[in-house]
Amino acid sequence: MSMSSPLTLRELPYLFRLGIALSVLTLLGGYVVSGLHLRWHYENRDESPGLTINDIIGAYHGVQTPSPLISALEDGHPETLQEFERQALIDWLRSDRVSQDYDNLDLGDEAPSEIIAVSCLDCHSRGSSGPEAYPEVSLEYWDDIQKLAISKDIQPAGTEIVAMSQHTHAPTMAVIMIVLGLLGVLTRFSNRLIGLVTFFASLGLLVDMAGWWITREVAQFAYAIVVGGALYAIGTMIVGGLVVIDCVLPGRKRVSAEE
Ligand code: HEC
Repeated sequence: MSMSSPLTLRELPYLFRLGIALSVLTLLGGYVVSGLHLRWHYENRDESPGLTINDIIGAYHGVQTPSPLISALEDGHPETLQEFERQALIDWLRSDRVSQDYDNLDLGDEAPSEIIAVSCLDCHSRGSSGPEAYPEVSLEYWDDIQKLAISKDIQPAGTEIVAMSQHTHAPTMAVIMIVLGLLGVLTRFSNRLIGLVTFFASLGLLVDMAGWWITREVAQFAYAIVVGGALYAIGTMIVGGLVVIDCVLPGRKRVSAEE
């Protein structure tokens, strides 16, 4: 017989244990749903599908992705383009009149639409063919160009929003772990195991929550948010799962204190 806590879950009335099991299941179910919500909420921060580290960096640090047109032009693409035309296009793309000046008649031959028509459309039309052509990226219409012209500048959530979100998340998540940990040590399972999991889950939560702030300065800390959050999630699932198992397994009559 273990000399564990004087109180153990399995000695408590069955309906009570069943109630605890249902509550813990609800809690874990809620976490699964909020995990999904997190995924949907953040996955579109960057343009690549699915939740990537860039989505997290975007949310907490911000991400700047230069416009593909500017990148290509600055990389010297296409080699055939006259320098003054390249500069005209880059200046236009960096200006705040990208849509207005696209086919601004006042600019004459230097209007971006003109330069593009002459210098790019041989290769970048839907119907372009030939070994050098690249019809996958079309520059025929404004709608095509607009998508490539924009530099994406994802701003992180404002400090007030982060503070407000943390104000609800940190205490709740910490209290949940404390309650689960306490229930956990009342189960028939090894207190050491529960202790180990509770420790890493709590450490993970602290790192995760601190990471919301640190990542604002240090983008790479986004990885710590992910690892910390994962530790917390796995920890709650393990301890919660063990509590549920302990509650539904057959109980035991309370043994008198003298034994
Ligand atoms: C001789 C054919 C040719 C001409 C002319 C040409 N391109 Fe390209 N372009 C390509 C090919 C092929 C690729 C894909 C391979 C690469 O990236 O070099 C490409 C890639 C690009 C990309 C990168 C698309 C991506 O995948 O993100 C952009 C942007 C681009 N071109 C813009 C332009 C612009 C603007 C002009 C005119 C000023 C232009 N191109 C003229 C052949 C051409």
